[in-house]
Amino acid sequence: KKRILSGMRPTGPLHLGNLHGALNQWVALQDEYECFYFVADWHALTSNYEDPVGLDEFTLEMAADWLSAGLSPEKSTLFVQSHVKEHAELFLILSMITPLSWLERNPTYKDQMAQLVGKDVSTFGFLGYPVLQAADIIMYLADAVPVGEDQIPHVEITREIARRFNHLYGPVFREPQVLLTKATARILGIDRRKMSKSYDNAIYLGDPPETIAERTSRMITDPQRARKSDPGDPGVCNVFEFHKLYTDPEKVKEIDAGCRSAALGCVECKKNLAVSLAEGLAPIREKRAHYMERPDQVKQILADGTQKARAVARQTMEAVRAGVRL
Ligand code: TYM
Repeated sequence: KKRILSGMRPTGPLHLGNLHGALNQWVALQDEYECFYFVADWHALTSNYEDPVGLDEFTLEMAADWLSAGLSPEKSTLFVQSHVKEHAELFLILSMITPLSWLERNPTYKDQMAQLVGKDVSTFGFLGYPVLQAADIIMYLADAVPVGEDQIPHVEITREIARRFNHLYGPVFREPQVLLTKATARILGIDRRKMSKSYDNAIYLGDPPETIAERTSRMITDPQRARKSDPGDPGVCNVFEFHKLYTDPEKVKEIDAGCRSAALGCVECKKNLAVSLAEGLAPIREKRAHYMERPDQVKQILADGTQKARAVARQTMEAVRAGVRL
């Protein structure tokens, strides 16, 4: 069986970008592959080190989101990064062989430096973010990594690091592939920038219908459509993108036609979307409430998964230490 690995930073509840960019894919892969999914709490610390309060709470909330969306502890290994200390050891060893230039030219590093206002991320740990991510991935000899588009550069660096290790010390690691769901690899938020917690433009899996309606009503539609009487272009409208995901296909056709002929205004179109979204997310919202009331059960699932992950990590580290003669 091929191995799949992916992770998410516990920086808050999950949003639709996380769901459509990654989580739905994680769920779908569970039946066919051997899957490892983990909470990247050390990665969250790279940008939240000044205020780490809540990381453990966020970890449980994230795991509750995962279970609600359909990840199953019977099928997949669900674990917490900081509980598998081997990740830190491998990160250290990989840091010896990773040229600074690979990290300095990492596009997500430059973007985030500009984006994370009010946070001082001019740290060694933040520059080394992709090295830790490489350790996460190759530790489990993963064949493929299901992620959204923004993570492609990190998986590229991972491949380079794996190759360099193998070249220097012998063939220990595999070079992982990126697995993208093309149509939803980059979900836009209500302001049309990438949906992200830090932009405050997200809709969250646990949002109640009122919140969904309020946020949806503020979504930017086709920017060229100034008046209701103007015909719109669903092809460039973010609201329409979500209709394709949440509204039944017959209705989507009507919305497409109504928008193009100006028979359907954006306000009404967004109201329809709010209803579809609230309905579509209802099962997740209910399960989420169930798990949030049972933190001990969620903790136990993560503890069991961590045991399994550690067993694999220990084995990999034996080969790594032999390679570097330690
Ligand atoms: P993170 O926590 O930022 O995001 C988790 C996953 O959600 C995807 N995603 C999106 N996809 C589409 N549209 C969006 N607007 C959107 N926002 C987020 C991300 O692409 C990601 O798949 N560095 C990683 C965490 C990590 C990791 C790893 C991932 C640490 N180690 C090893 C894979 C393998 C991150 O910050 O993801």
